[in-house]
Amino acid sequence: MFETELTRTLNIQYPIFQAPMAGGPTTPELIAAVSNAGGLGNLGAGYLAPDQIRNAIHKIRQLTDQPFGVNLFVPEKQEESEVEVSLMNDYLNNYRVELGIEVNPSILKSSESFEEQVQVLLDEKIPVFSFTFGVAPHNIIQAMKQQGTVVIGTATTVEEAKYLEAAGVNAIVAQGSEAGGHRGTFLKNVSNPLIGTMALVPQIADHVSIPIIASGGIMDGRGFLASLALGASAVQMGTAFLACIESGAHESYKQKILSANEDSTELTRAYSGKPARGIRTKFMNDMHQYPGNIPAYPIQNAMTRDIRQAAAKANNPEYMSLWAGQGLRLASSQSAATIVERTIDQANEIVNANYNLRNG
Ligand SMILES: Cc1cc2nc3c(=O)[nH]c(=O)nc-3n(C[C@H](O)[C@H](O)[C@H](O)COP(=O)(O)O)c2cc1C
Repeated sequence: MFETELTRTLNIQYPIFQAPMAGGPTTPELIAAVSNAGGLGNLGAGYLAPDQIRNAIHKIRQLTDQPFGVNLFVPEKQEESEVEVSLMNDYLNNYRVELGIEVNPSILKSSESFEEQVQVLLDEKIPVFSFTFGVAPHNIIQAMKQQGTVVIGTATTVEEAKYLEAAGVNAIVAQGSEAGGHRGTFLKNVSNPLIGTMALVPQIADHVSIPIIASGGIMDGRGFLASLALGASAVQMGTAFLACIESGAHESYKQKILSANEDSTELTRAYSGKPARGIRTKFMNDMHQYPGNIPAYPIQNAMTRDIRQAAAKANNPEYMSLWAGQGLRLASSQSAATIVERTIDQANEIVNANYNLRNG
């Protein structure tokens, strides 16, 4: 049941991906639990140093012999205005004083080296490589495919999906506007396309011939089945796994997820300079009043890092980034395996109920 082109390609039982979630939630334990339950666990490795990625992959392999994926951020050019950065730094100092941390810290602007991260993935011959925020260079896509790694890109519009298909990826995550976390948008012809999953998936399905993974607001068997009906060959669920037992999300973040509603999230550039969906916080609200321009990603991300970390230490979610999608009321604190099993059970129940209805 629910065998698709992707379950066959990836040799997995169910077309359920646990979304890669950079910043801590996707522990080796979570990834292995999902893969062992028949889905595909994915490591969000965008912020990890090459050694950390290697260690995480080794840990995952100790915990499962099933396929899994690793996800990276395609680097973007930093356009930096010194005036913007300096004004933002002055503003952020207010939070630093409140949290009792050093003001005017030196900002580590360079992110991890993409090439070095990729090299680890090539050395380790991982089963699945996915990326977001752009298109990985041609030679990297080819090198991955040559050694048998399935390559997956992220699109938020039909144009982006066509672009990724032409670049040679094996499959595409169609990220709807309900999705938690950063928008994967990379073509700048439209400033911030916010197409919902329900509208995006069938339109991409009509314009590309490779498999699609629906993502954004999918929390259970209902969203899973609807996605397959729309033309997806799998779903990628993030928020559904954020508060589960194996998730590495901070405890106060988990509590926020479990008590928030469908209208609790907002798209914001406040934390990182790139639009991302998260539970509304005091920091986000304050930032609405910020008189200047918020520096672009990844500069703003680097500038708020010390504040987010200090807030996490102080158990103060109001200054943390609480990325989450719009399906929040459906989140639960069960184990990852239970979430996979319940999704499949519920989808089966719906299929059977419809069958019985038709056949009296
Ligand atoms: C906390 C969090 C972190 C995320 N980090 C990544 C990431 O590192 N790479 C990526 O491709 N997508 C990332 N995403 C987006 C997911 O891949 C996916 O599009 C999203 O979770 C789907 O929406 P949902 O949260 O409503 O299930 C993240 C999402 C969340 C909630």
